[in-house]
Amino acid sequence: MREKVHQLYLDFLEIAETKRQWNIFNDIPWERLDSVQPIEAVARAMEVYCTEEMYVPDYSAEGLRLLRADLEMVGFQIRWAFEESRHGLVFREYLTRSGMRSAADVAELETPVANRAWTLPFDTRRRMSCYGALQEAATYAAYKAQKDRALASGDQVAAAIFHHVGSDEAAHAAFYRSMIKLELEQDRQGTIADLGHVLANFKMPGDGLIPDYHQRLESSGGGLSARAFVQKVILPTLTSLRISRAELKLEARRQPAADA
Ligand SMILES: [Fe+2]
Ligand SMILES: [Fe+2]
Repeated sequence: MREKVHQLYLDFLEIAETKRQWNIFNDIPWERLDSVQPIEAVARAMEVYCTEEMYVPDYSAEGLRLLRADLEMVGFQIRWAFEESRHGLVFREYLTRSGMRSAADVAELETPVANRAWTLPFDTRRRMSCYGALQEAATYAAYKAQKDRALASGDQVAAAIFHHVGSDEAAHAAFYRSMIKLELEQDRQGTIADLGHVLANFKMPGDGLIPDYHQRLESSGGGLSARAFVQKVILPTLTSLRISRAELKLEARRQPAADA
């Protein structure tokens, strides 16, 4: 298992460094902001995303604490944290460079982060891999919708941002799915039961931490409906993992007995 996880991390890192690498200085067409008609709803959605990404100190600290004995996962966690930190950064840059928010407005976004820490929603590596697969897929789906909205409105800058950030989120989801596949090889029933448990208790990281999280995402068109969550997150994840809905239900039913 350790050797396989190490190889997964190496493969992830190789693609990250050679194909997926991007930076906020050269890869976002900032000069086009002059011709962009900024949309207030985009800025409002981006504020929520930005704050959610800014919990990266907690995501990193809590993740590293959980994984510190799994050295091959530690490298992934650190690289992942770097990528998440550039997401918050590029959103901040858009909000200020577009003139939609002042530096003081953007500094305000840190308030919920300073007020309350995010804590691990689940306490084992396997359950956190399940959580990661779902959360990253949901984030990717939300950012993909934002990219499409930006393209439709002619905002090439926001489209480029959501394209690059979304490609990171898709890669994160794929890594966690690969982790779940390794876990399934080790213990299929237990892993599916964990996935069922995580699904039953799933919420996004900012939910409960960022004030009016759902209401702000809904009103800005930045959220993912329950239907979209099933169609764009749960079903593709199950298909990729080759787990049927019947099997998931069966193991989830077994779970309360196993937990007792
Ligand atoms: Fe992110
Ligand atoms: Fe991510």
